[in-house]
Amino acid sequence: MKTDSRPIGVFDSGMGGLTAVKELINILPGEDIIYLGDTARVPYGTRSRETILRYAVQDFEFLKRKGVKFIIAACGTASSVMIGEEMFPKEECTGVILPAVEAACKATKNKKIGVIATGASIRSGSYERCISGIMPEAEVYSKACPMFVPLVENGYCGRDCEPAVAIAKEYLEPLRDEGIDTLILGCTHYPLLSGIIGDILGSGVKLISSGAEAGKFAKKLLAEKGLLNGRQSGGSIRLYCTDSPELFCENAERFIELDGILAEKCSLD
Ligand code: DGL
Repeated sequence: MKTDSRPIGVFDSGMGGLTAVKELINILPGEDIIYLGDTARVPYGTRSRETILRYAVQDFEFLKRKGVKFIIAACGTASSVMIGEEMFPKEECTGVILPAVEAACKATKNKKIGVIATGASIRSGSYERCISGIMPEAEVYSKACPMFVPLVENGYCGRDCEPAVAIAKEYLEPLRDEGIDTLILGCTHYPLLSGIIGDILGSGVKLISSGAEAGKFAKKLLAEKGLLNGRQSGGSIRLYCTDSPELFCENAERFIELDGILAEKCSLD
């Protein structure tokens, strides 16, 4: 059987992409992973398309220089501007949009799908276009949730965190009132708010984690291409960030267990 021992690269503007890493550790425990969090420039979601694209190219090139076999852009915001750009060949990488949309279209019964993501992702229209490509009859209800990333990055995620609950109600009650049965968490930070989101929307609404779906999607693709390393355990993780590694590790603990894993500071120029 064909195998490939090179690591898988994953990047995000900050810590959110660790939701994809968590899934990869679960489903591909033997794979080595290199993660880049562009913590010096997070958030991306408030920036222009041109700036986000420039950052995405730098993130992508950094991981390529590290010798990875495949790249997951585990950032909804970066993914939303990368679609269709030829510097990101489909054979070399995936974003989170198609994997999340495919999962949502599979999950929905009433074909009313909600999408929450950063302002830039929602403005790009990428999620909607992808849904209508796969399920043209679906009704899509999108909502930018710009306060969610700062809440998550600052640890305001618990179900009893009143400010987070108040903000989430403001964003989500209109979607609930539309009768959606599936909600795409279109930003990879948002699964940390799943408890609050689930409380507001109720158990009848299926939450789709875009990061976790991208991890599953990558596994399938790598298996098809004979690019898995064939090991069943013992995968390593290397973390890079563009700002303080100490701060990164402190925050990253909320996303994945970091026993003995250190982060290294890097430059993207
Ligand atoms: N995790 C990023 C995303 O999925 C965070 C957004 C940001 O940097 O604004 O969109």
